Parts: sequence; C-alpha cells; structure tokens
Amino acid sequence: MKEQNDIILRVEHVSKLYGHNKAEAAKMMQAGSNKDEVYKKTGVTVALWDVNFEIPRGKIFVIIGLSGSGKSTVVRCFNRLNRPTSGKVFFEGRDLALMDQKELLEFRRSKISMVFQSFGLMSHRDVLGNVAYGLEVRGMPRAEREEKARKVISMVGLEGWEHQSCGQLSGGMRQRVGIARALANDPEVLLMDEPFSALDPLVRRDMQFELLQIQRKLKKTVVFITHDMDEAFKLGDRVAIMRDGKVIQVDTPEAMSANPADDYVRDFTGSADKSKVTTVRSIMMTPSSLVRLSESPALAIQEMRKNALSTVYVVDDQLCLVGILTIQDAIRAQRESRSIADVVRRGVATTTADALVADIMPIAAETLYPIAVLDEDGQLKGIVTKASVLASLL
Ligand SMILES: Nc1ncnc2c1ncn2[C@@H]1O[C@H](COP(=O)(O)OP(=O)(O)O)[C@@H](O)[C@H]1O
Ligand SMILES: [Mg+2]
Repeated sequence: MKEQNDIILRVEHVSKLYGHNKAEAAKMMQAGSNKDEVYKKTGVTVALWDVNFEIPRGKIFVIIGLSGSGKSTVVRCFNRLNRPTSGKVFFEGRDLALMDQKELLEFRRSKISMVFQSFGLMSHRDVLGNVAYGLEVRGMPRAEREEKARKVISMVGLEGWEHQSCGQLSGGMRQRVGIARALANDPEVLLMDEPFSALDPLVRRDMQFELLQIQRKLKKTVVFITHDMDEAFKLGDRVAIMRDGKVIQVDTPEAMSANPADDYVRDFTGSADKSKVTTVRSIMMTPSSLVRLSESPALAIQEMRKNALSTVYVVDDQLCLVGILTIQDAIRAQRESRSIADVVRRGVATTTADALVADIMPIAAETLYPIAVLDEDGQLKGIVTKASVLASLL
C-alpha cells in the first residue's frame, strides 16, 4: 500500500492486552464490555483497544489522558519497545512488526528518539559527553560528534555549559540535555513521554516555549504525551485524547474545545463558548520582563537569566513594542558585537485589550510567540499566550 508522504506514523486497529486469558478478554471487549469489567472477569488489563490514528509529518502530535489510559503503552509501540497484541503500526508505510533486528536497531538509532521524564542522563559525564553519547555509540569520530553536539547544545540554550557535569544541573537544565541528546541523533521523530511533568511550573512553561521554537525551526515530528490540558493545547498541532485504552477524539485544540466528542472530552477541555464574551483584557498578563531597544545584548541576557526566560519583549524609549528577542539571538548578538536592534524579531502578532477572545483565536492558533496587547499609541500593555486563550474557554 502506498503511504501518503505527509503521514509519518500510522496506527491501525492496535490493541494491547496484558494477562493470560486474552482471547476471552477480547471477546468481552468486542461485545461492548469496558476495561474494568474485563479485568474483574478475566484478570486481563486492556491497555489499548482498537486504537487508530495518523500522525502528520513535521507537526506536534499530543496524546493526553488520565493516568493509566494507555498513553505510554501506545507511544512505546512506535519504537517497538511494545508489540501490539493485534493491529499494526506503520512508519513511512513500513510495518514495524516486519523489521528484523538489524533494521529495528537502525530505525531506533536514526529515525526515532525518546526523551524520558526521568531524564536518564549519565551523571558522571558532562553535558557534551551526554549529548554526544548516541553518536559515539554509532562510531562517529570525536571531532565530528562534538561539533554536532555543540550545535544542539546551543539550540536548547545550554551554550557555555558543555563541560558541566550533569549531576550538578537543575531539573530544567537536565531536561534540556535530554532533548539535546535526542536531537543529536537527528531523528525524524521525537517521542516525549511526559517530559516536563517533574518540572516546576515556571521552568515548565519555559521548556514548552523552547520546545515549540525548536520544533518550528527543525520541523521534526514530535509525539508528546501529557496529562495536562494546558500543555496539550499549548503545544499540540493535533491532540488525541485517550480514556481506558481507547482514543476518544483526535483534533486540533481549537476544534476539540469547540466540538468535544463526548462528556469526557467536554470535562477535559470545557465546552462553553465563552470566547465571544471574554475580552483580551481579562486574560492578558503583564510581561514579567521587558528590554529596551537601546540596551546591550549582555544586559538582555542577564535579565532573561534572572527571570528564567528564553524570550523577552523589546520596547523603545516610549515603551512602544518593537519585537521579541530570544536568548539565542541575544547571545549571538553579543558574540558578534551587534545590537539588539540587529536581531530583534519584528512582526509580533498584536491585538488590543478590548478585542474579544474569539477575534484572536485564529492568530493564537498560528503564532509561535504570545500575542502582544497594545494601546492606541502602540505601547505594550500586556501579553496573551495561546494557552491562556484556550484556558479562557474552559
Ligand atoms: N507491563 C505491564 N503489565 C501489565 N499491565 C500494564 C503494563 N504496562 C501497562 N499496564 C497497564 O496498562 C494500562 C495503561 O498503562 P500506561 O500506558 O502506562 O498508561 P499511561 O501512560 O496513560 O499512564 C494501565 O492500566 C497499566 O496498569
Ligand atoms: Mg505513562
């Protein structure tokens, strides 16, 4: 069968049952029993039941559901850490079950990388050593692998930390190393199983933002698992919601909030269309930090570090919005003795405080950065994130 080339992973009728009496359990499921009833009667856990979906290439695909709903089980089928009891998983049209050991090894090395919640770093090695590890195992010469590793280290904002030992890093920084290590292999797909769940909220938000930026830049396919709706809506181009081993709905965040498939999804996402009555003013936040156009990149970097931010808004002397500055751009400007004006990203999406949330939903869906709220003079009054737009609908 010829695969459409914009679908990278396809899950077809996948079920995964744990226990001895699988045949009877399957019969009960087919007859309409639920996971609990099946477990009570047969002792079999239905981790997945008849799961079907397609993952488009180059997008962030989020899988969300309560604990035990089957998220990890399904994602582990993508690199064959799990084998389905029945059904098939295709990568670029190739049935994973048909791969022999050699092919599977190559697939795991070069096509698909996993980032775990628990980081799984080698604490005795430094950042560079951890990030370059996968390439070292592949036998890549030292100079070449370290060059590659340095590139991805700078991409995740860890430039300057190459020789820090991983045991001494904070949770957020360790997770950055985990992502860099996965990226170093230059895989087609990144599998991320609740990667940010252990991080505190501020660091977590920063990491979400960072991941979005990296993904938009590299256009990798990301399969991201979470049990947090805000995170799902913030990151997901498409979101699959799971319950008791089944996929209930697969949609864009906007479509899912607008048309929840059932009460479970409605509970998860909220359903009332408050967007037509809620104003931007009521959901905007004060930016936690601002940088003036005339300031030096060094000062901007210091400001971002102090506030644990990876981006900051840039204003002129009248506090009118100029654009947004990323820490990577600031570091680059400093290194190249350039000014903030040279690297600031202009053309940030803007709105006004009196606009309705419904009016900015299409912008929120598209934009990478928060939307800037300006008054009639162009002064920056606040910011609105995609997450707060969607959260306002709950
Ligand atoms: N190796 C296993 N043996 C038996 N049951 C398992 C195993 N792995 C997962 N399960 C069960 O499968 C269901 C789905 O688990 P999991 O995929 O880990 O859920 P999630 O990641 O959504 O929290 C749960 O009921 C879990 O207890
Ligand atoms: Mg899990």
